[in-house]
Amino acid sequence: LLGGRIGRTVVLVGLMGAGKSCVGRRLAARLGLDFLDSDVEFEAASGSSISDYFARFGEAAFRDGERKVIARLLDGPPVVLATGGGAFIDPATRERIKSTGTSVWIRAELDLLLKRTVGRDHRPLLKQGDPREILGRLMEARYPVYAEADIIVDSTDEVPEATVIRVMEGL
Ligand code: S3P
Repeated sequence: LLGGRIGRTVVLVGLMGAGKSCVGRRLAARLGLDFLDSDVEFEAASGSSISDYFARFGEAAFRDGERKVIARLLDGPPVVLATGGGAFIDPATRERIKSTGTSVWIRAELDLLLKRTVGRDHRPLLKQGDPREILGRLMEARYPVYAEADIIVDSTDEVPEATVIRVMEGL
């Protein structure tokens, strides 16, 4: 446990609805670390909701801002950091995460992702069409990239604490 990884920020990556924030919050409590969420930090730094930001400036601008927010957080003391689903897909952000943190892919099945993403407002990508199709396409495109994470943990439909324990076993 934590062999060689003490002092590094634990960075949770994976698709929307995988449970990064839910697992991250509980993991942080167990490790005695603060929990941060890059989506929340982005909204605080930009003074805008993610949906509004996407609508006004587009996804590329969001990725630039997200990269800066994550770099700043990685420069701080070790925390548990949940990242927005596209963060690890951006090559520069991924490099930064991999060089400074311990990355953990929280992986989940499509039906579970769908169940957990309905009616959530900070996910403009899912409003561009049928959520099942969009998530399916994102799974295809992103899973090979998430697989570059240091640790891979399945999030199933059980209590989040079970996923937390599997993450801790991997650290
Ligand atoms: C995104 C995921 C969202 C948020 C933004 C873009 C993505 O975060 O950053 O809507 O590209 O997958 P969550 O993974 O926390 O929903």
